Amino acid sequence: MGKTYPKVSEEYQKAVDKCKKKLRGFIAEKNCAPLMVRIAWHSAGTYDVKTKTGGPFGTIKHTAELGHEANKGLDIAVRLLEPIKEQFPIISYADFYQLAGVVAVEITGGPEIPFHPGREDKPEPPEEGRLPNATKGADHLRDVFGHMGLSDQDIVALSGGHTLGRCHMERSGFEGAWTSNPLIFHNSYFKELLSGEKEGLLQLPSDKALLTDPVFRPLGEKYAADEDAFFADYAEAHLKLSELGFAEA
Ligand code: HEM
Repeated sequence: MGKTYPKVSEEYQKAVDKCKKKLRGFIAEKNCAPLMVRIAWHSAGTYDVKTKTGGPFGTIKHTAELGHEANKGLDIAVRLLEPIKEQFPIISYADFYQLAGVVAVEITGGPEIPFHPGREDKPEPPEEGRLPNATKGADHLRDVFGHMGLSDQDIVALSGGHTLGRCHMERSGFEGAWTSNPLIFHNSYFKELLSGEKEGLLQLPSDKALLTDPVFRPLGEKYAADEDAFFADYAEAHLKLSELGFAEA
């Protein structure tokens, strides 16, 4: 997409390739793909396109950022990943968390998302309050994702990330999964959403906004009907998210 990526050393690239393999085994063993996608997303999703602050630059490992209300539970992800990270001191945390997100999508059956290394760790966590609030609707989603520089299509495609994982009462105040198989990446989030509320499955107000908004809904319908279309748009949106503020012209 016309980006010029920094050139990393051969040693760095080798470490990334090896780390990717380690992450595949590790995430499969721990069944922690959802948490890995969430940490990658919460790390990147703080990017503000106007001030060029926040973004996927490793700051989420700092206690200050982990203490943000939206990040409850992500201390577990940081802790889980530390023994793998220790094996690759050369790799930045910034690259490492994004690599974990990409691998988690891949090994649960989702699309392959290109990974370009070279993000540098930043010292300062962003201010609190840049991630979406699940009790709000479409205007809020456009506002928050707009600050990241992401589009309506990105919002809907990325929301399909809730094909994985679940809510934990003690983390977000919500409980339950969006799909009946939260460890498989497919288009079931959209199928479940459109088929209405089902016993045991969850719909947050922010999920419901995808049903009522006139731009969001047709995209959700397309993704429910056509998994290939979802995978293509998801991969594009996830790639963008993972590179916010990185390799920008
Ligand atoms: C659109 C706005 C979004 C809102 C309001 C939202 C909200 C939430 C909430 C409340 C949880 C539950 C956390 C917990 O209790 O453990 C959650 C989990 C999760 N979110 Fe989102 N989310 C959004 C977008 C995204 C995006 C863009 C992705 C990735 C592409 C994503 C991936 C996940 C995953 C994988 C989990 C499951 C974590 C686990 O099982 O531990 N979310 N989200």
